[in-house]
Amino acid sequence: MATYKVPVISGDGIGPEVIAEGKKVIEAAGEVYGFNVDWIHMPFGADHYVATGETISEESLKELGRYRAIYLGSLGDERKVKAGILEKGVLLKMRFYYDQYINLRPVKLLDGVETPLKNKTSKDIDFMVVRENTEDFYVGLGGRVKKGAEKQELELKRDIYAVKFNLDIETDSDEIGYQIGVVSREGAKRIMEYSFDLARQRRKHLSSVDKANVMTECYGLWRDVFTETAKNYPDVQTDFNFVDAVTMWFVKNPEFFDVVVTPNMFGDIITDLGAMIQGGLGLAPGGNVNPKGTSMFEPMGGSAPKYKGLNKVNPIATIWAGALLLDHLGEKQAADAIVKAIEANLKQGKVRTYDLGGTAGTSDVGSDIARIVKVQGQI
Ligand code: IPM
Ligand code: MN
Repeated sequence: MATYKVPVISGDGIGPEVIAEGKKVIEAAGEVYGFNVDWIHMPFGADHYVATGETISEESLKELGRYRAIYLGSLGDERKVKAGILEKGVLLKMRFYYDQYINLRPVKLLDGVETPLKNKTSKDIDFMVVRENTEDFYVGLGGRVKKGAEKQELELKRDIYAVKFNLDIETDSDEIGYQIGVVSREGAKRIMEYSFDLARQRRKHLSSVDKANVMTECYGLWRDVFTETAKNYPDVQTDFNFVDAVTMWFVKNPEFFDVVVTPNMFGDIITDLGAMIQGGLGLAPGGNVNPKGTSMFEPMGGSAPKYKGLNKVNPIATIWAGALLLDHLGEKQAADAIVKAIEANLKQGKVRTYDLGGTAGTSDVGSDIARIVKVQGQI
């Protein structure tokens, strides 16, 4: 029987509660489909930072880099650690360190879930956002400069760029803050190729989302690479969308979309909108994927510290992320069975958390989905 070693970072706030349910369901699927999971628990998060001053060490990054998939709860607790430290020091750190350039975010309305969109059903809302995950405004290149400051030399750390910027900032302002968005040809190409391949497996329609009418340099390059790549995929229908307009189309015509490829920051924004039209953050999973390296699967929502320990929040996003993780490990049947079980739970509508109008606890929902996985697999 296959045994997978999977590092788990439960993290902060509700992280440990939802991860417990994700593990429960994955283990149930393991019983049915014949595999074991060895969970390797990692302590990173607010408490670990307060106790040790460490976000995540180089040594731990190396250690975790030996595995194919990490299961992540959520990070951050502003009551303990200033916002940004753990997000940048652990989450973004891992996305960059493992070069997880694909951020997969399904936007899929499941039957039995209410969408705030009038007259839309599960037939209308089923697309995949592929968020580029290692470039754009997330590269960490920026600074704050006070009047009269000297010339600054900034170096972009990632190998694929190896770029140095010499910035001479003259300003009449007392102080300016700036942030540089970077799109590289290689970085754009690999995400486009992944997205076109994915579109080929789906409804053969790929939409690019950018803002090439204003940020003409970085998103101009993005569009060029999109157009060049499209030539190798004549069977895939394509279009360009400006990000502001796409927020309208997601609401008005979600059925138009199949696969959406977008730079990092716009991807961050439009996937919260995507989560809302599929029923809320409690139902939105995400995968940070490096097909040849270490990937990481997580719920899209945050740590919600005020709900910690209340057994209240919806674990479905985390359970669904667990299905994405199993799919990534090659356990496709088990992954499909988990998604089916989530669908069945939602369709039955009896065991649901407060966000979906129910009164069940986090653990009740996890147990119900685990039960359905076993019933469907006849164990
Ligand atoms: C997300 C989150 C992160 C992001 C934050 C927590 C750094 O919002 O995964 O969407 O901006 O990518
Ligand atoms: Mn986000």
